[in-house]
Parts: sequence; C-alpha cells; structure tokens
Amino acid sequence: MRKFVSIAAVFMLLAGLVTLATSCTVPSRGGGGGGGVLIGVAMPTKSLQRWNQDGEHMKKQLEAAGYKVDLQYAEDSVETQVSQIENMITKGAKVLVIASIDGEALKGVLEDAAKEGIKVIAYDRLIRGTEHVDYYATFDNYKVGALQGKYIVEALGLDKGEKGPFTLEVFGGSPDDNNAYFVNDGGMDQLRPYIESGALVIKSGQVDMEQIAIKAWKSEGAQARMDNLLTAYYSDENIDAILSPNDSIAAGIVASLKAAGYGSPDKPFPILTGQDCDITNVKYLIAGEQSMSVFKDTRTLASKVVGMVDALMKGTEPEINDTTTYDNGVKIVPSYLCEPVFANASNYKELLIDSGYYKEEQLK
Ligand code: BGC
Repeated sequence: MRKFVSIAAVFMLLAGLVTLATSCTVPSRGGGGGGGVLIGVAMPTKSLQRWNQDGEHMKKQLEAAGYKVDLQYAEDSVETQVSQIENMITKGAKVLVIASIDGEALKGVLEDAAKEGIKVIAYDRLIRGTEHVDYYATFDNYKVGALQGKYIVEALGLDKGEKGPFTLEVFGGSPDDNNAYFVNDGGMDQLRPYIESGALVIKSGQVDMEQIAIKAWKSEGAQARMDNLLTAYYSDENIDAILSPNDSIAAGIVASLKAAGYGSPDKPFPILTGQDCDITNVKYLIAGEQSMSVFKDTRTLASKVVGMVDALMKGTEPEINDTTTYDNGVKIVPSYLCEPVFANASNYKELLIDSGYYKEEQLK
C-alpha cells in the first residue's frame, strides 16, 4: 500500500512537472484564451444609455477572456465611425465588432478589413450592402415590435372584442438602422387587423417609415413630431395609444405629452410602448407615464459576441440560431438572435434588480 502511494505520488509529481513545462513553452494567453489579441469594438454613441452598457460589458467580458480591446464611440457621426474602424485595422485588430450608425455606410472600410483577413461581427444592428460581414448577433427585433404591438392590443381589450374606436399614432426608429424596420413590422403586424377594422384610428394617417421615422432615435425628434401631432389632430380629443419603437423615442413623447397637460384625470397618459429599459424609462414605468418596455439584457448579447470572437480566433464555427432572417442585400448573414423580454411596472424588479442589471437606488 505504502509503495503504491509513493508510486502514485511520483506519478502525480511528474504529471505536474509536464503541465508546468508545457505551460511554460506555450506563450501565456492572458486571463482567458484570448492571448492578448486586439479586438476592435465600434459603438454608435454614448448619448443613449444602452450603448454605454453594451460597450462596458463587451470590454469587461473580452478582457476577462484575455483579449485587448479598442472600444470607440462615434457620437452618431458616420465619418467618425469609419475613421475609428480604419484605426482599428491599422492597429492590427483581428476581429471587429461593430454596432453601426448607418448600416449602409461601411462597405468601403470593410473591404479594407477583408484585405487584412479581419473578421467582422455586426453587433445589434445589421451591416448592409457588403459581403464582408461574417456574423450578426442581436435580439430578435421583429419580436421586440410584436411585444409592443401585442401589448397595445391587449391593453385596449381589442383581442377580447373591444371595438373602440381608439386613437393611435405610430413612431418609427432611425431610417438608417435596419432594426427600425423589423421592429416596425413586428408592431404593425399585431395592430394592422384593428386598424383595418376601424377599432384603431390613426388620425394623422401617417404609417409609412418615411413619415414616422425618427433620425438617430433621438428624443428631441420624437418630441417635436409628437408636439406637431397633438396640435394638428388632438386638440379636441385625447390620444389613447402610441406605438413607440424604443425608450429614447418614448422619452421625447412623454415630454411632449406632459407639456400638453397629459397625466391628469381628464387627460390620462396614453398607452405608450418602448424598448431597452433605460433607467429614465423604468422610472416612467414606475410613475405610470410609460406602459411597457422591452428588456434586452446586454450582458447576454455581449457574452454571445465574446463566444463568437473566441470561436473565430480558434477557427471553429460560432454558435448561431438563425440563417434565414437577416439578408443584408448581398447575403444572408448567419445570426444569433437573443430573446427580448416584456417589461412593465409589475415585473421590472425581478427582471432588472434581482438579476443585478440595475441597483434599486438607480431607479429612484
Ligand atoms: C437598438 C435599440 C436602440 C436603438 C437606439 C437600435 O438599433 O436595437 O435597442 O434603442 O438602436 O439606440
């Protein structure tokens, strides 16, 4: 027995030495398997809350996996984003993770990336008009819109036979963002039957993206359009529901509604949708000024993208779950779609606080 133990001990010691020896000959690969390789992360703007979180989560998770990260924000300027990406190429980035400002504007710079053999992952927003985009990771954007549209249908009882008529206006996201069209389709597919039956009435008649899109999803643009709608069509009647595609647009709408006296017993806030669960808007949910939002856990998106980066660096296939939806005009980009989740005043605590996404004090 004793002899057996000592043989085992010698064996273990040898095994340990072998491990030590190999780990000394293999170059150190940092905290994870990233080996200090540079990854460029291009984000659209710091002015909307979510992108700050996306950038932070990407940087943290990539660094934890052993990569170096060049994280840049372009303040919604296409030229700035293009030159930031050029810089990443010059610095020797091996993978570019890009949340584009204008999905159509990166063709040239991505040709340069392709010449250097750099892989490209479109982050959240599809990059269009080029074959040089390898993968796409996002939330199911159609489903985001469907959650919004379905909410309006159910909140007004239309699915239970309510005939209204109820007044509705619809807003669209940025016209240069592919997501805006998917979100709009998801929402309108839910609402269309009731618009056609006359249970929902859009007094402005504005439904096309050219009429309803808000450039760069800006609150100011949404507020200005809502002011115009209220003045032109709702001076003698309250508006009952507003399909807003995201939270920054909903914030502009809330400002406009408040200025027009909504939020009183004879002018209650209309049903108002959103997306992102931005802190400002979660406060609106709690205060009853916005009805719902859609939670997209940017930690999950970041971890999927880090998984894609890892796979690309190892030369294996990244995990995808959609090969049909996201046609960028040149090819269908293999995608991973994360699941968006309905959020309102009743479930925000569980979704956002219990999960550690926000701290309770941030929502006060
Ligand atoms: C994103 C949304 C975001 C919007 C404005 C879209 O591409 O999917 O989450 O609200 O951009 O930043």
